[in-house]
Amino acid sequence: MNPVSSMFDRLRSSEATFHMPVYGRQPVAFARGDGTRLWDTAGREYLDFVAGIAVMSVGHSHPKVVEAIRRQAGMLTHVSNLYYTEAQIQLAERLHELLGWGKVFFANSGAEANECAVKLARRWQREQGRPGRSGLVAALGSFHGRTVATLAATGQPAKHEPFAPLPPELVHHVPLNDEEALGAALDDGIGALLLEVVQGEGGINPATPEYLKAARELCDERGMLLIFDEVQTGLGRTGKWFGFQHAGVIPDVVTLAKALGGGLPIGACVAREEVADAFRPGDHATTFGGGPVPCAAALAVLDVISSEGLVENSARMGELLVAELREALESNPAVKDVRGVGLLVGVELAGEWSRDLVDACRERGLLVNNVRPDMIRLSPPLVVSADEVSRAVTILAEVLHGVAEKV
Ligand SMILES: Cc1ncc(COP(=O)(O)O)c(C=O)c1O
Repeated sequence: MNPVSSMFDRLRSSEATFHMPVYGRQPVAFARGDGTRLWDTAGREYLDFVAGIAVMSVGHSHPKVVEAIRRQAGMLTHVSNLYYTEAQIQLAERLHELLGWGKVFFANSGAEANECAVKLARRWQREQGRPGRSGLVAALGSFHGRTVATLAATGQPAKHEPFAPLPPELVHHVPLNDEEALGAALDDGIGALLLEVVQGEGGINPATPEYLKAARELCDERGMLLIFDEVQTGLGRTGKWFGFQHAGVIPDVVTLAKALGGGLPIGACVAREEVADAFRPGDHATTFGGGPVPCAAALAVLDVISSEGLVENSARMGELLVAELREALESNPAVKDVRGVGLLVGVELAGEWSRDLVDACRERGLLVNNVRPDMIRLSPPLVVSADEVSRAVTILAEVLHGVAEKV
């Protein structure tokens, strides 16, 4: 038997036996990455337009990130938040510098960063003498994580159903970009509004600048916190350092994760100083959050994003990707829409074919991701080149041509 396929079969059978069956994995195991490329265990090369779900913004195995991880791990790996470490303190300073405001809590994931934001909103409202304002408003179609609170905040009823009942007093959902519905939902029981500036998992749905401005005004008028979940959109993904900079609307709290650690698990909840100071020692904590190794990796990631001009490249390559996709797919009846902000791009299909398309692209050496049955997401590393954009468009157009013939 071919040793590579027997190795893969062993991985698959072991996973089926020893893992909880929550993932519908694709039939490939990866061994190595470099920049925008991945190699599977058989040595086959792929162009990666998934980037570990919008995580590997500086590319796979960036030498500066690898070196920072190696150096920090060789010196000190973990001591917990009972003590100070230099990397964590520096990273908070760096995030403050990038935003121009804020105090940070470091978590281990996007969901945990959002969990912190939800608790902080309650704590802040209590400090204001409004303990009854424990509710949250979030958008339909949103995704905020898989913990109980962040799942409740996620505006996708199908994801709630197997775990009902979720805390019913916690979240009220409104349609995105409907100012009237938002005005009606932000009532006396609500302490905060949680929004993605572009819904990623929900299908690349941008909040309009007008909607974000109205959200800011309503929150100010009614004493509510505006929280932007920039776990997916932050740190250059949309062609600006933060997605909210497109609309010029500053939130009270912003959450980050994904790209921050360059592949190591780290999340950050950053809040305006006066809001952050509502927390008291002991109100919130984590054993691993802000560990020296992920913080050292994050410092290197932020340096690379700056020094290599990756925010600008994201804006340029994002425009090119959308323009080339629109041109290549213009007359394809299988395609309903192409849209994107920076390098967060979606191809909406006229039918539920995205799973098959992911397989067909992978067979041709291109990795893409199906966020919905009718939607393909493209979120390559921000180091992607114009040639690689064209190559991905050619493969996707070829595969979609095959679908169009069957429509
Ligand atoms: C906008 C947004 N928020 C939160 C999360 C949850 O992040 P994590 O999977 O790191 O918990 C995600 C993950 O896709 C996300 O896209």
